[in-house]
Amino acid sequence: MRVSVFGLGYVGCVSAACLADMGHEVVGVDVNQVKVDLVNDGRAPVVEERIGELVAEVVGSGALRATDDVREAVMNSEVSLVCVGTPSEPNGSLCTTYLERVTEQIGAALAEQGGRGGRHTVVFRSTMLPGTCLDLLVPILEKSFGGTAGVDVGVAVNPEFLREGTSVRDFSDPPKTVIGELDPASGDVVAALYDGLPGEVFRVPVPTAEAIKYADNAFHGLKIGFANELGAVCQALGVDSHQVMDVFLADRKLNISPAYLRPGFAFGGSCLPKDLRSLVYAAQRADVSVPILAHVLPSNEEHLQRAIELVERTGRRKVGLFGLSFKPGTDDLRESPLVELAERLFGKGYDLRIHDANVSLSRLLGANREYIETRLPHLAQLLADSVDEVLEHAEVVLVGTKDPAVLSALPHGAGGPVIVDLVRLPDAEARRAEPGYVGLAW
Ligand SMILES: NC(=O)c1ccc[n+]([C@@H]2O[C@H](COP(=O)([O-])OP(=O)(O)OC[C@H]3O[C@@H](n4cnc5c(N)ncnc54)[C@H](O)[C@@H]3O)[C@@H](O)[C@H]2O)c1
Repeated sequence: MRVSVFGLGYVGCVSAACLADMGHEVVGVDVNQVKVDLVNDGRAPVVEERIGELVAEVVGSGALRATDDVREAVMNSEVSLVCVGTPSEPNGSLCTTYLERVTEQIGAALAEQGGRGGRHTVVFRSTMLPGTCLDLLVPILEKSFGGTAGVDVGVAVNPEFLREGTSVRDFSDPPKTVIGELDPASGDVVAALYDGLPGEVFRVPVPTAEAIKYADNAFHGLKIGFANELGAVCQALGVDSHQVMDVFLADRKLNISPAYLRPGFAFGGSCLPKDLRSLVYAAQRADVSVPILAHVLPSNEEHLQRAIELVERTGRRKVGLFGLSFKPGTDDLRESPLVELAERLFGKGYDLRIHDANVSLSRLLGANREYIETRLPHLAQLLADSVDEVLEHAEVVLVGTKDPAVLSALPHGAGGPVIVDLVRLPDAEARRAEPGYVGLAW
């Protein structure tokens, strides 16, 4: 394919050289004349393992050249890869100035071309917040080009997952390829560009592709911060943190795994809150600052609060709650977030009925009974024996369980109670279009 790459920084230079190496005909574009001259001299404008040799090779073979002439580059390519910088503004917001400018320039060049050479596809590789492409860049492109995106010009978002330092190696062995496509034809162009590379290819809506990059980078930062904080606490407590992490990392069931990584309701139970509290307390006593660990419980509290706000926003007073124990398959109520939710709604004067098949007063023994008696003394009055009893009462229903008996009884559509979904019901996708359904994080 004939490819133009806008921005010859770390991402653009590596993408341009590697695509040329794959057999594409590539022209790099940059506003910085020094970078353009360097590439045309067969030298890389960035320092990266193997990039020097690769640029020399592909420029020597004629597969890669550079220019500052946007028109010429667009005219001689069928796909443009936008790799310009998106730095932070002083207030933390994302600077989209370079993206806007380059999009306008590409659109104007395409307008001059007047459709000769077939449909062009613009692929954004820069990191940008969800909504940037469709709400900001597509309108700019359409205005300067004078056509419709997804019809007259292809648009896709293809975030970059390569690590500086090893990006040339990573290019030929990427962790994944993500293609956010405005229309299938736009996605086909991106897929063809990387044809032959290993790794799974995900074709998703444009905003999803934009968000995936943020999910990845936020998680990577969080992982490093977590490991460093844990290391500092371990050191203060005289424990070898690397030995701890060796065992931690070996657990592929609960630790390095998809477990606990689905957006949903707050966590609770008799262990996580208690153990986080005591770990943070131990760190504080040892004068070790652990802001990430110290904010896990406050973060959890926010999700509880959001559930209450969803109920408040309905303006209705008769509330049904399905689920009470801290997770499915147990009657353990200690520090259950659903108990906390019930207690707060009760405290706010909501007329509440609760059903949880696993919980019945007769089975509340020992620690559990004591917990209920201190935390939710009116539980007995609020508990309903059947699903129907709750549904008959409720104007708004909080679903905190995937108990099949509850799922099959939940009504659909207008006229029934508002359904506040805390568990992402199996039919959440379909329900999302219905009036009277609100999900927590979807
Ligand atoms: N560096 C990384 O490892 C990495 C990894 C993944 C994603 N990203 C993202 O990729 C994007 C680019 O990052 P980078 O590190 O390569 O940036 P960079 O600053 O190294 O390079 C950007 C280049 O774009 C050029 N440019 C600006 N306006 C232009 C225009 N109108 N026309 C042509 N060229 C123009 C600049 O002169 C510069 O050479 C950013 O959104 C970044 O967040 C970076």
